[in-house]
Amino acid sequence: MTSATLRVERLSPAKRADYLAFFDHERGAAFSDNPGWARCYCQFYRTARAIDWKASTGVQNRAAASASVACGEAEGYLAKAGDETVGWLHAAPRHKLPHAFERLGVDPTPLDLPPQDAAVIVCFVIAPAWRRRGVASALLDGALADLAARGIAFVDAFPFKAGDSTSAADHYHGPASLFASRGFEPVAQTGDLTVVRKHLAPETRCQTPSRSEDRNGV
Ligand SMILES: CC(C)(COP(=O)(O)OP(=O)(O)OC[C@H]1O[C@@H](n2cnc3c(N)ncnc32)[C@H](O)[C@@H]1OP(=O)(O)O)[C@@H](O)C(=O)NCCC(=O)NCCS
Repeated sequence: MTSATLRVERLSPAKRADYLAFFDHERGAAFSDNPGWARCYCQFYRTARAIDWKASTGVQNRAAASASVACGEAEGYLAKAGDETVGWLHAAPRHKLPHAFERLGVDPTPLDLPPQDAAVIVCFVIAPAWRRRGVASALLDGALADLAARGIAFVDAFPFKAGDSTSAADHYHGPASLFASRGFEPVAQTGDLTVVRKHLAPETRCQTPSRSEDRNGV
């Protein structure tokens, strides 16, 4: 629980229906203001660049998302208000998103640890009616606490250089100001985005007996 009204929950196979309902075109909240992106089901950064993303349909991406959630391969965090899913943060250990850097067009950041000990954040989607109410902030705080407790040493994120834009879509990797406020620091730049990193405090890491332990609540 991160506030009086919001809960942040780690994605798990049991939450597959919630995930799909949030993203389902025409019914789900996620893309109710942006149907052009509704076919994604947050599969873009899970898809190898050799695959023609433009050719993949919503039906195909939904099936891929459903399967990857069902088998526990997909990771991320859902924001819930009561029974309603109001937001999604795609954050995962690096080995779970092996195509992310290639898709981002970013050289993989230095890694002196096994890939399962570092994480990346590649996407946020907050239901339009819930934007500017702290949902992305709650998701990031919940994810960082959970990743730290699982023994993750650092998290990389990729905010766009969106300038003065206040377009919600221009900040879909997460607003730069949000990461800065949580102590992320720049480690690399491309023309379009800044790579930022946060080291997770050792005292908050390794509190669980085993990092492979499945802990779905945050
Ligand atoms: C960008 C987005 C994630 C922000 O979520 P949110 O819940 O409204 O964010 P919060 O209320 O927690 O605000 C966090 C910070 O981001 C800033 N912020 C939020 N929306 C912003 C916007 N549209 N433009 C600039 N900054 C923004 C806030 O001012 C706040 O800054 P602060 O920490 O300095 O105070 C949300 O608008 C969204 O989901 N956009 C659509 C993303 C999308 O299209 N995803 C699909 C990709 S396929």
